This record gives sequence, structure tokens and C-alpha cells, in this order.
Amino acid sequence: MTSLAGKRIVLGVSGGIAAYKAVEICRRLMDEGAHVIPVLTKGATRFVGRTTFDALASERVQMSLFDEDDPIPHTTLGQTADCVLVAPATARVIGAYAAGISSDLLTATLIATRAPVVVCPAMHTEMWEHPAVADNIATLVERGVHIVGPESGRLAGGDEGAGRLSSLADIVAAVSQALVVGDQRSDMAGLSVVVTAGGTREPIDPVRYIGNHSSGKQGYAFAEEAAGRGASVTVVTTVDRPGPLGATVVPGFTVVRVDTAEEMAAATAAAAKEADVVIMAAAVADFRPVDPAGVKLKKRDGVPAIELEPTPDILASLGASKPEGQILIGFAAETCDVADNAAAKLNGKGADYIVANDVTAENAGFAHDTNEVLVLASDGRVHSVGLRSKRQVAQAVLDLVVADRDGRANVR
Ligand code: CTP
Repeated sequence: MTSLAGKRIVLGVSGGIAAYKAVEICRRLMDEGAHVIPVLTKGATRFVGRTTFDALASERVQMSLFDEDDPIPHTTLGQTADCVLVAPATARVIGAYAAGISSDLLTATLIATRAPVVVCPAMHTEMWEHPAVADNIATLVERGVHIVGPESGRLAGGDEGAGRLSSLADIVAAVSQALVVGDQRSDMAGLSVVVTAGGTREPIDPVRYIGNHSSGKQGYAFAEEAAGRGASVTVVTTVDRPGPLGATVVPGFTVVRVDTAEEMAAATAAAAKEADVVIMAAAVADFRPVDPAGVKLKKRDGVPAIELEPTPDILASLGASKPEGQILIGFAAETCDVADNAAAKLNGKGADYIVANDVTAENAGFAHDTNEVLVLASDGRVHSVGLRSKRQVAQAVLDLVVADRDGRANVR
């Protein structure tokens, strides 16, 4: 756990009966030495007075996007926070945050920040279980927001059920935990990382190709996680960055576009020469047409007999020529005998790690935003990473890589 001493925490309080508990959260954060800036919604002040927070917190309460001394309070708050905590978080605030709607200072701050965010929902059971709220929570989890609770128990009006704000101890611990993740962000600074992403396309003729279902999401998640932790990243890819930002250039990224296994092999080999870490997340076609047609094949000419030949095995050749100290990570997308097949690839291709998954498992593998993997290391360790977002899978694997590099440095 990270110490909270000196950390700037924006404490967002929204309008639910549990708002009174935010007073005690504020106190506990202050007791831990945090610098607490309360941001209340209008609704929150129906349940608890701003004077209480003014008296307890490090700074006075802020509520408005427009009436503060600072002309852009939300960006100042968002940029300077080490963590934004929302406790309690109502269905409205959760919905606005998930939808990217900045209707007040709190939601604007949530959207303006890059700091870790901890959201502690509290509402009646019917609201918590509504599909809209469930979907919004899933969206936030997917984006790496830390969700704490709610718990089951007695609710306002004497009802019992899920929806009660988590214990104050759990909330303070979650803030501390979220800061650990934030603190690690520079642990790949100075490293050069090469990631391959997407499925290769092997032309049959100018119109058709042999391809596969790879979306590139897991590869880009590795690239973004490594860049977020300070690495300079080259992505050798057949696809644009998935998601709403598409091909938008992200700081710390060099994107090299390729189509075929042959092109990916050449670009990856060139980039990997100087790399500290190489991550072969691409789904490389194993076979390609020997002689792609120069013009579109016509139906009237009958079913073509397409002769295939193997493509270069990029991972195996990187493994055979690996520079000293480089960490090479391969993948194994399997439909059965995952651990055995992955172990065979680990040994056969000279990788330091194989990240293996069962592509037939629910919510894992191609095109999903989530994944569930086994990580096999060349020294025999096996780590299981349960179902989580592809970004969190990348985070777990890169944690191993960083620890591995630190271990090697200590041995030297
Ligand atoms: N790979 C590669 N070049 C290829 C085929 C695969 O670099 N021509 C890499 C993939 O990027 C992945 C790993 O090798 O990191 C395993 O890929 P996979 O397709 O699962 O394994 P194959 O060796 O192709 O074996 P098989 O298809 O028989 O399971």
C-alpha cells in the first residue's frame, strides 16, 4: 500500500443519503496525511453542509464550474490530483462519468483527470441492479476505474439489500491501492518496447486475403500500458488502434503499418534489434498463397486451387537471435490443451514468456475487451490472470517483466 501522506485527493461527494459518511472519509484521509479537496454536487449539499467539509478538509469546498476564483477549476483539479475519489457515487454521477457528460464540477473533474479514480457507489438496490447502472459500471471497470462496493445491508427507509456504501476502511484502502498503480507509472521509463498487434493478411488476389479474427485490442493494450509506464513503444500492426480514438497518435507511440507476415517479420526484426522488451501479440497467419494472383480471380474460371506455403515464424526467429537481456513475450491462442500447447511454444520458440488463452472461453480472446490468460515463464513459473480488461492483463504481464528485469539487475 502507498502512504497517503502528501497526496492530493479530490473527494467528490454526490447527493445520496450516504453523503454524511463522506465527512468521516474526509477525516480519515486527513489523518493519513493526505491533502483533501472536497468537491460537492448540488445534491450532496441537501444531505450534508459544505461548512462541515470547509472546516475539516485541506481546502474549502468547490462546487461550481464557473463561480470559483480559478476560471477552469475542473482542469486544475483534474491535472493536479493524485487520485479522485467519489464517495458516495450516485447513479447519476456514475452515468454521466460513463457517458463522458460533464454537467457539473465533479463530473467535469472526473473527465479532465488522468489520475486514478476510485468510485464508491451507494444507492437503493433497485437502482444498483438496473441494467443501465450495471452497464455504466462495466464501462468504468473496462476503463480501469476502481469500483469499491457497494455492500449489502440496511439502506435508507429501512430496506435491506445491495447498495450500501462500502466500509470507510475499505474505501481508504482502495485509495491507497489505486495510488500504488499510479506510482508505478514510470517503472518502464527509458525502456524500448516493440509490440505487434492484429492479424496479418496474406493476399490471394488483389481483393481477397487469408486472415483471422484478431482485433489488435490486446496488442494495443500492451502498447498503451507500456507507454503509460514511461516506455517508448513501437507498434508493428495491421490494424488501427481499436476504439473511438482510432488512428489518433498517442504520445510515446510509433506506429508501423504492415499487412503480411513477411512485412511484419521485416519491420519487427528491425525494431527489435535495440528493444528491451518485444511482445508478439499479433496473430500471424501460418500459411500464405505461394503465388497470389495479380488480378481478381473470377468465379467463371472455377474454384481456384490455392497452393499454400508457410510464413516466416517471427517469434521463433526473434528467439533465435535475441540480444542479451532482451525479454521476449509470445502468445498462444488455443482452443484446447492450453497449458500443454503453450509450454510447447515456450520451449520451441525461445521466448521468456508465453501468454496463453483459450479463445473459446466466454468473454475472452478475439475482439472482446476482456481476457483471461495463463502466463508461462521460461523458468517454470506459471501465473494465472483471471478475467479482466485487456489493459489489466497487460498490466499484470508487464508487472512480471519489470520484476524480472529488476531481479536480473540485482543478480549482476
Ligand atoms: N507467431 C509468429 N509467426 C508466425 C506464427 C506465430 O511470430 N508465423 C507468433 C505469434 O505472434 C504468437 C506465437 O507465435 O506470439 C504463437 O502463435 P500461434 O499462432 O498460437 O502458434 P503457432 O506457432 O502458429 O502454432 P499453431 O498455429 O500450430 O498453434
